[in-house]
Amino acid sequence: MSDDQTTADEKVERIERIRRLAKVVCICKGIPLGKVLPAIKACDNVTDVNRMAGTGTGGCKGQRCGPRIKVLLRKKHELQSDVSKTKETASDSDE
Ligand code: FES
Repeated sequence: MSDDQTTADEKVERIERIRRLAKVVCICKGIPLGKVLPAIKACDNVTDVNRMAGTGTGGCKGQRCGPRIKVLLRKKHELQSDVSKTKETASDSDE
């Protein structure tokens, strides 16, 4: 097994773990991951995600869902960074 394969498997495992943990992202409002993911894709901070998805407005005022949204945003940025590095590596090898 190559290092690339292991890395891809680890990424898939991490994503699945996050999905399992965050099936319902906002417990107070019952907002599932499926409704939050479009906001995660479109936004770069928790406040904007809350505005778009309706999270953070329940009884705990985002004490429980805020950290989950931060994790999802961080993972999005990590994946975007990995994709950028992969594209740079691919374009370097084309030269
Ligand atoms: S879990 Fe989202 S506001 Fe409480």
